[in-house]
Amino acid sequence: MEAIYDQIYKKAEVYWDTRHNDIHLPLAYDFAKRLLAFYPEADACVVLPAILLHDVGWKMVPEEKQLNAFGPKATDKAANRLHEVEGVRIAGEILASLNYDAGKTNEILTIIDGHDSRLEALSLNDKLVKDADKLWRFTVTGVSIDYRRFGVELAGYLAYLGDKIEEWLFTPEAEEIARAELTKTRRELEA
Ligand SMILES: [Fe+2]
Ligand SMILES: [Fe+2]
Repeated sequence: MEAIYDQIYKKAEVYWDTRHNDIHLPLAYDFAKRLLAFYPEADACVVLPAILLHDVGWKMVPEEKQLNAFGPKATDKAANRLHEVEGVRIAGEILASLNYDAGKTNEILTIIDGHDSRLEALSLNDKLVKDADKLWRFTVTGVSIDYRRFGVELAGYLAYLGDKIEEWLFTPEAEEIARAELTKTRRELEA
């Protein structure tokens, strides 16, 4: 089973060279694996491909449009939606090229289609993808990238993140990871 994830990884990463997704995605993939360890009843065959492929659509959003399309000051909902729609298209092509199971592919594409715009989760698999996607925001790496590109002050941004833990995350394990990462990030960046 591991080999298929490597194949999906290789086909997905071609699309990651924008929006710092080449940094976001490996971190999100690690968080997905950590969360799956808490939930043996979740389906790794859905969660892992979904997390690897969820942001491939950003490659189709012109870089000058990306900064208004995500983050605390985002105004361009259409550009954000475009990354989901294009993500579904590209992920569907990649999974078809690997003859991936049709039922699992459907579930993966449904998760990708609403990974940002749909605020509620449809299933445990969806919850784990949503949580794994957001956890990097609390890491030293994620915060260092985000507060600069969002043009906000570090201290205010750290407080904002602390307030968002319960709103953004679905599982208690992800909330715990977020708190631990945020503590580490404060220690490292505010020193
Ligand atoms: Fe996204
Ligand atoms: Fe993402």
